[in-house]
Amino acid sequence: MTFQNILLEQPEAGIYLLTVNRPQALNALNSATLDEIGAAADTVAADENARVLLVTGAGDKAFVAGADIAEMRNFTPERGEAFSARGSRVFAKLEALAIPVIALVNGYALGGGCELALACDWVIAADRAAFGQPEVNLGVSAGFGGTQRLPRKIGSARAMELLVTGRQVKADEALAIGLVNQVVAAAEIMRKGLEIARLIASKGPLAARYTKEAVVRGADMDLAEALALESRLFGRCCATQDQKEGMRAFLEKRSPKFEGK
Ligand code: HXC
Repeated sequence: MTFQNILLEQPEAGIYLLTVNRPQALNALNSATLDEIGAAADTVAADENARVLLVTGAGDKAFVAGADIAEMRNFTPERGEAFSARGSRVFAKLEALAIPVIALVNGYALGGGCELALACDWVIAADRAAFGQPEVNLGVSAGFGGTQRLPRKIGSARAMELLVTGRQVKADEALAIGLVNQVVAAAEIMRKGLEIARLIASKGPLAARYTKEAVVRGADMDLAEALALESRLFGRCCATQDQKEGMRAFLEKRSPKFEGK
């Protein structure tokens, strides 16, 4: 599939790389770009051999500098609500992918860009990255999940502060408040992302998928229901050849050969 606003590549077997590719607008998300991200998520979801999705931004300045302000400037209430819902649907697709999705935040992640990172399972940030929800500077509230995912990730008091002041957070503070998992030198971020992707791809593929399902679906359940889900998924792992192979390999003191079956 050819895209105008994003790139979807497979740098190595099982590893997908989605790059938001509008560097002239600091990778701002317009409707067409959102739709292409949604189509890319569908492509990845349909590939049984997919193991990891990395998400990044083109150029050396921005991950994504937000939703496209030029497109939003004359929105009616109806168009505004529809645009917000469109972004939320697309980001929910990324979140619902069965495989881990890692944001490689190579620069500004503002507004919709911070929300895109929040919809990923975890974030690796370049040392020059900056995060923020500056929507209040434009007279709007966040609209691609920021008011919901940010408090769930960093706690409601910290999230409220960032959402109502629009204050930007540099990479080291983002690490301290749990918004990102790791900070690396900007020149190293792709190498680091691929290293982690390879590590994930070396593990049991079904085990990784069931683990993500337990964490993501369990977050919307009460503890007893979520623990029952965990037990069901553990049981499902025990139906796989990978579980037999993984445990046999341990006992035979050799590396496992997982086949995703
Ligand atoms: C459209 C954008 C843009 C955006 C940058 N550009 N951000 N275009 N939408 N969100 C464009 C600029 O207009 C400019 O185009 C070019 O990218 C380079 O940007 P500069 O501002 O010249 O770069 P710089 O001075 O380095 O400043 C970088 C920046 C700044 C601090 C990131 O661009 C900025 O503050 N951007 C807006 C950030 C923001 O408010 N994001 C939240 C958007 S609201 P030209 O043509 O002049 O070269 C949002 C809501 C989501 O995300 C929910 C919706 C429902």
